[in-house]
Amino acid sequence: MSRPRVLVTREVFDDVLEYLARHFDVTPNQADTPMSPAALAQALADKEGALTTLSERVDAALLAQCPKLKAVCNIAVGFNNIDLKACTERGVMATNTPGVLDDSTADFTWALILATTRRVTETEAWLRAGQWSGWKLKQFLGTDVHHATLGILGMGRIGQAVARRARGFDMTVLYHNTRRLSAEVEKSCHAAYVSMDELLARADILTLHMPYSPATHHIIGAKQLARMKNTAILINAARGGVVDDAALVEALKRGTLAAAGLDVFENEPTLNPEFLKLKNVVLTPHIASSTEATRRNMAMTAAENLVAALTTGKPPNLLNPPV
Ligand code: GLV
Repeated sequence: MSRPRVLVTREVFDDVLEYLARHFDVTPNQADTPMSPAALAQALADKEGALTTLSERVDAALLAQCPKLKAVCNIAVGFNNIDLKACTERGVMATNTPGVLDDSTADFTWALILATTRRVTETEAWLRAGQWSGWKLKQFLGTDVHHATLGILGMGRIGQAVARRARGFDMTVLYHNTRRLSAEVEKSCHAAYVSMDELLARADILTLHMPYSPATHHIIGAKQLARMKNTAILINAARGGVVDDAALVEALKRGTLAAAGLDVFENEPTLNPEFLKLKNVVLTPHIASSTEATRRNMAMTAAENLVAALTTGKPPNLLNPPV
């Protein structure tokens, strides 16, 4: 009997390919060439499964061209690149990689918080440009993280991991979420639930940890930014599109917001060019989960989902159970 054919859309670790090859006929893309929608449709036309990344859009138009497809396993916790409804209608299982990247993403959120408040990237660029002539009392004054108020918008696993890390900085932690957490979880995070308005008004540092969806599109826009303190900083290691980047640029230029630390952007990788001109932003290329161990874990989790999907029909991280 011929083995199922699967596509791996981007470069992955060798052991992930070896694991998949034990079960399937694998078409890899170790050259890591990004695939256009047409190239993806062509590559998937005869495949039963795919290991995908955020760079590939899986929608009704694509699925219509892939009659054999049974499973799409995303190497990411976010799955806004996948139209779940279209997958369900076509009987295609979709999966993500929840859990394995929470701690690394929370760690990186703290890297952004510290780099932004203490001006790490701005001052390093200045030093590298040979501009340092000596110590000065008022040089590159930053803002304190310790004892500040941390606001967390989106209190799922990653938001909670960020909150737990705030204890070492003796911070006040406030959060807002679509649903309030149990008293027990609030206690373990040392976090207090407040309304969105109160969160915006009180946070010295506001960090976002929600998925992107039509409901969270521009959840931080001009109106919300205007409610924040002009000394506050905004951190986004969640998803491009949850922040209105043009409105953020305006607030940073006008000084109605002090600074921002951003790992994700609208229209990645073509970010708003105004960001590059601003000194009060820390910019990183969507790497919050990118540690050797975590990216390996994500890719292997996705591969395990694909094997389970095509062998038992029960992948552990199924996103559309109606299939
Ligand atoms: C990365 O952005 C992810 O969703 O895992």
